[in-house]
Amino acid sequence: MCDRLATAYAKHVPDIPVRLLYDQDIAEACEAHLTGSDEKLQDTKFGRKHGSQQVAIASHLRTMGLLDKKLCYIEFGAGKGGLSHCLAAATEDKAWHLLIDRETRRRKDDRLHRRQGYSRRRVDIRHLVLSGLKEELGERDIVAVGKHLCGVATDLTLRCLEKASSDGLEVRGLGVALCCHHCCTWRSYVGKTFLEDLGFNEKDFRLLVKLSSWATSGMEEASKNEAKSKVEAEAEANVETKLAVNAGLEQVEECAEQKRKREIGLFAKRLIDMGRISFVRSQGLEGRLVQYSEGGNGVGSIENILLLVERPPAPSAPPSAVGVAVAKYMTL
Ligand SMILES: C[S@@+](CC[C@H](N)C(=O)[O-])C[C@H]1O[C@@H](n2cnc3c(N)ncnc32)[C@H](O)[C@@H]1O
Repeated sequence: MCDRLATAYAKHVPDIPVRLLYDQDIAEACEAHLTGSDEKLQDTKFGRKHGSQQVAIASHLRTMGLLDKKLCYIEFGAGKGGLSHCLAAATEDKAWHLLIDRETRRRKDDRLHRRQGYSRRRVDIRHLVLSGLKEELGERDIVAVGKHLCGVATDLTLRCLEKASSDGLEVRGLGVALCCHHCCTWRSYVGKTFLEDLGFNEKDFRLLVKLSSWATSGMEEASKNEAKSKVEAEAEANVETKLAVNAGLEQVEECAEQKRKREIGLFAKRLIDMGRISFVRSQGLEGRLVQYSEGGNGVGSIENILLLVERPPAPSAPPSAVGVAVAKYMTL
């Protein structure tokens, strides 16, 4: 399986560009938005990891022209709704927000937004039918967002939006930070055709999903080991070298093995994501993956990939008769 996966990855997963956007205006608007909030809300204080990820996602939406007061943002798997707070700040509290989560326990922070156009629904995305939520959406076009939308929930979101579009709602785009591929299921996965075309069946998918958790293999151990190896290095300075060399060799072997495991885990994650890209492209949309935050090497989150979807630009209209005449005149 590892060889097949590596081959499929090399052939079908393009290089993922690193786009660490951080729009200073958005960051400042977010800071101001939280000023005066209580200590619990300081949890989401900007400048910290989650805050900067939220700003990064909002910055990507801005570059796509999807940061707009006239829109309704639906945050899937909203949790405390930190991303919605950030988008509210970035749109001067004029956009609408609908927060979706199957858990209720995190709604305390919503009190910052007691106003029309900010609501939360406790529902499993699996059962969410957006065309039934006219009141929450108004007549506004929709942009779907999410931060660390775990495994299967991303596929359910993509299905939910496909249905919304076929029900006549205007879905303008999506920006979702991906995570937890080990929670994906074949039943809900949107990229079945993509994987099947590459020769991977349901059983292979289950294995891929398991392998995806290798991406974080040894990550928690890494920082512990770093501290340990400093102490060991000092101790070893005074003893005979042979034992130390053997121990070092073992460590290197273990490290190489872990490195390879992490690589295979990342291959699995990205191949699963390419199936999602293939799904959105099959609907005539533009989809791409970008690395939107630092990651993977102990500095930030290994879950640093953002799925972006937007409508392709409308084809330019054929020149009118007058236009053609003018063009001819100009070339005379
Ligand atoms: C990893 S947390 C991320 C929370 C928040 N977006 C953040 O960045 O802090 C994932 C959230 O998605 C929600 N979730 C997962 N699967 C879901 C589903 N099928 N339907 C609705 N919510 C779901 C969970 O309850 C959880 O709050």
